[in-house]
Amino acid sequence: MTTPLVRALSELHATYRGFPVRTRAHVLGRFLTCPFLAVAGELPAGVRVLEIGAGHGIFARLAAAGGARHVIAVEPDLRKSLSSFRHPAISFVAGFDDAVAGRFDVVAMIDVLYKVPLHEWDALFARVAERLVPGGMFLLKEIDPERRVKASWNRAQESVASALNLTLGRSFSYESPTLVRRRLERAGFVGLEARQLGRWYPHAHVLYSARRPAP
Ligand SMILES: C[S@@+](CC[C@H](N)C(=O)[O-])C[C@H]1O[C@@H](n2cnc3c(N)ncnc32)[C@H](O)[C@@H]1O
Repeated sequence: MTTPLVRALSELHATYRGFPVRTRAHVLGRFLTCPFLAVAGELPAGVRVLEIGAGHGIFARLAAAGGARHVIAVEPDLRKSLSSFRHPAISFVAGFDDAVAGRFDVVAMIDVLYKVPLHEWDALFARVAERLVPGGMFLLKEIDPERRVKASWNRAQESVASALNLTLGRSFSYESPTLVRRRLERAGFVGLEARQLGRWYPHAHVLYSARRPAP
């Protein structure tokens, strides 16, 4: 499911047109520095998606533009979830991942895991597996801390964001792709892949994809 860059920009422009300048600048900055389109490109057409920690809904909007049937966008920060845009294929829910029941074809988490303390990761992965239909896909976009120069830049940027209280959560948790893969395996996921997506970006983006075993 690939959305061309110009169409994506135009959809985002139309979606956030009425929002405050600060939000629009944030959305544009996120779009330009995070490989949302590459992540959305992994979604098969017509899927039901649960997005955990959806922020202002950029990925949800791009997933809908790309042909997802429905996206439930869960976001605990009320400043974001309560002021979200309206779209027929997207439902925003104010809360954490456990605020939603049911099963989805895809669960996506984009730059959210680092905000969750390390000791909570295994339980979170187990809950994600529970939310997937058999054969369903978990898409996890994080930063690779082993790319040290880019990781330092990320750390500096996040320190500023935390100091300004721009993002909910105080945690700053990263693990190497090897350790993340082990955790995903322990949670019962199969077909694990880790793709480095940071080549043209200032951050060392890595996208993990994994599946709940099919029956
Ligand atoms: C860096 S932002 C990313 C937002 C969005 N995914 C994006 O890519 O633009 C991190 C988001 O995770 C949310 N968050 C923090 N702790 C969380 C948790 N335990 N569960 C779900 N979301 C959380 C924050 O409120 C914030 O919106």
